[in-house]
Amino acid sequence: MKFMHNRFQKIVVMGLGYIGLPTASMLATKGHHVVGVDVSRDIVDTINSGNIHIVEPDLDILVKSAVNSGNMQAMMSPVEADTFIIAVPTPFKVTVGNPKAPDVSYVEAAAKAVASVLRPGNLVILESTSPVGTTERIYEIIVEQRPELQGLVYVAHCPERVLPGHIIRELVDNDRIIGGIDRSSAEKARELYSTFCNGSIYLSDSRTAELAKLVENSYRDVNIAFANELSMICDEQSIDVWELIRLVNKHPRVNVLRPGPGVGGHCIAVDPWFIVNAFPEKAQLIRTAREVNDAKPHWVVDKVLKAAFDMVNPVITCLGLSYKSDVDDLRESPALEIVTELAEKSSATVCVVEPHISCLPDSLAAGGVRLVSIDEALAESDIMVVLVDHRDFRTVDPEGLKRMVVIDTRGIWK
Ligand SMILES: NC(=O)c1ccc[n+]([C@@H]2O[C@H](COP(=O)([O-])OP(=O)(O)OC[C@H]3O[C@@H](n4cnc5c(N)ncnc54)[C@H](O)[C@@H]3O)[C@@H](O)[C@H]2O)c1
Repeated sequence: MKFMHNRFQKIVVMGLGYIGLPTASMLATKGHHVVGVDVSRDIVDTINSGNIHIVEPDLDILVKSAVNSGNMQAMMSPVEADTFIIAVPTPFKVTVGNPKAPDVSYVEAAAKAVASVLRPGNLVILESTSPVGTTERIYEIIVEQRPELQGLVYVAHCPERVLPGHIIRELVDNDRIIGGIDRSSAEKARELYSTFCNGSIYLSDSRTAELAKLVENSYRDVNIAFANELSMICDEQSIDVWELIRLVNKHPRVNVLRPGPGVGGHCIAVDPWFIVNAFPEKAQLIRTAREVNDAKPHWVVDKVLKAAFDMVNPVITCLGLSYKSDVDDLRESPALEIVTELAEKSSATVCVVEPHISCLPDSLAAGGVRLVSIDEALAESDIMVVLVDHRDFRTVDPEGLKRMVVIDTRGIWK
């Protein structure tokens, strides 16, 4: 492909969620002119007023500064630009028989919208976590829609590795993999990321970059499954799993991760299935790890129900609803699954303490679950179940817990 002049003066970011919004506002504060595109009118209006619709430390300051500088505005459809970054969802498809198949329809829709405004020499970057071959599919979509652009656009995949809660820092500091549909696409994308990344940038092809992201999260999932399996074995033997892990990790080549109530979030609980879906026979270990982690919330529910069995009208309080500490993100949250199942299966009063949300999801509120403060929980609960290790929970005075049954799936009070 012929290298053409492109100084990234104008960048369109498709999808203004947890990944797209920090990326768009970071680029704008680095002097690029950025148009953020989202299909949600509410999100577009919120951002244009300098506000944000998600919880992420320091993102409010970054967005306000980007919008106030005049370098960023939000729109509902893309405009002509030099570079297009696609950061739209890649969830599961709702299908009978294969409920864990990846849904790339959002990526395809974004690619079609971008294709309609592309010009020769433009760069299109896929940031969404995607099944192998999706970046090449984007190029196909572009060429199907705009045959005259064949060989004249750059297309690359740059998977995102940021940790929610630390996105702004990690956007800049993390190392990155960039895989192009050809070498010049990868090099072109590197030029862009070099304008705001301090981490090292490693170039590869798009299929390797796609699989690398899926492998990173599968690696984490398999290791967490190992810890979760240990926690259930230890429980049966009345062995303290936290003490066990502390001791085995004294071995110079052992590093067992911490167990929890399951595995949640939009990445680790989802991405390994993209590998299993594509390689159902070969991906045995990855599938088993997913199954172990998916089973853990039900194991926690059984444990709570057993503890409540002899109690009269007990109050069960679950600490945390989000999928991890210090965020508001409830997607694929094992805590949400546990609270939902407890509300369905138990006649107890079920309460939740979740400092990062102001109201419960409708399904929980309709099921009679109450959102309470930590002080109310300490005063009223018979069973306290720690599901998320939010900072606010770590400072609870252990004296206040003495009169209740405590089920601590995160080991925060050890
Ligand atoms: N959230 C994370 O921590 C994280 C980390 C690494 C990678 N990823 C990946 O990044 C991608 C985006 O994730 P997210 O968490 O930002 O999702 P999100 O749901 O927070 O945001 C996606 C946004 O895209 C918008 N959208 C949907 N279709 C669109 C379209 N056709 N055009 C424009 N906008 C559209 C949605 O309205 C939404 O606001 C996913 O593939 C995810 O797996 C996420």
